[in-house]
Amino acid sequence: MLCLNHVTKNFSGLSALTDVSFEVKNAVIKGIIGPNGAGKTTLFNIITGVFPPTHGEIILKGKDISRNRPDEIAKMGVSRTFQQTYLFKSLTVLENVMIGRHYRTQSEFFSCGLRLPSARREEKMIRERSMEYLEMFGLADKKDRIANKLPMGEQRYLEVARALATEPCLLILDEPTAGLNEFERNGFRDMVFKIREMGITILVIEHHMKFIMEVCNEMVVLNFGVKIAEGTPEEIQNSQKVIEAYLGVEEDIDY
Ligand SMILES: Nc1ncnc2c1ncn2[C@@H]1O[C@H](COP(=O)(O)OP(=O)(O)OP(=O)(O)O)[C@@H](O)[C@H]1O
Ligand SMILES: [Mg+2]
Repeated sequence: MLCLNHVTKNFSGLSALTDVSFEVKNAVIKGIIGPNGAGKTTLFNIITGVFPPTHGEIILKGKDISRNRPDEIAKMGVSRTFQQTYLFKSLTVLENVMIGRHYRTQSEFFSCGLRLPSARREEKMIRERSMEYLEMFGLADKKDRIANKLPMGEQRYLEVARALATEPCLLILDEPTAGLNEFERNGFRDMVFKIREMGITILVIEHHMKFIMEVCNEMVVLNFGVKIAEGTPEEIQNSQKVIEAYLGVEEDIDY
């Protein structure tokens, strides 16, 4: 699905990522962990086209996307959520998901504005599909609530629902359980499994170790922009390099 080859990112003198390579196979859940400032979000920003790598390449489904724009990469089936939730705060819950759906459909703003029959049909279809995503996340009965009035846990769910509505092949989640309680986090874990069952590949950054160890098939560990380990959760847990990287930053290990 995705292949990173020797990716380096420099920000005016600071090397946020240095020569990072790894693969994400189809329909797996791959975790990225590492202490604060390790370069995790930078990695996601490069994959989604926010900025290009300084060196190296990103290959998505066999195509080099290193220099593509975010909208082009999104159209190729990459969808993401953000470390700080990013919703259209004054729109309703349903409208937030519908925006994700609109991305996938044909009608242009012009025909939507004129409310042509084709656009109306499409609108109805978008509404119905969006409701299905809301149902999946237990948010259907809150469809008319204003997004930023939802509790944090539900805002996180809503963000994933919107990302899924674009029907991605690769879903990228940046600290999706930050701010969730244990009950919500467990719900989120089950949701992640369901998403993988839909055949979607998932790349997830998380500080919460129990969550990431339970959820992932494979993990990559970054420290100061360098990949220091890669393997199954069990291999990572027993890696001396990883244990050393986390020593002295114990607040990062949130069991
Ligand atoms: N746009 C940018 N311009 C300059 N420096 C940046 C930019 N984005 C990130 N950095 C720097 O790159 C380094 C890696 O940051 P990044 O946000 O990727 O870390 P992270 O692993 O996601 O950390 P956290 O766990 O705190 O979210 C940091 O030193 C950060 O200050
Ligand atoms: Mg980050």
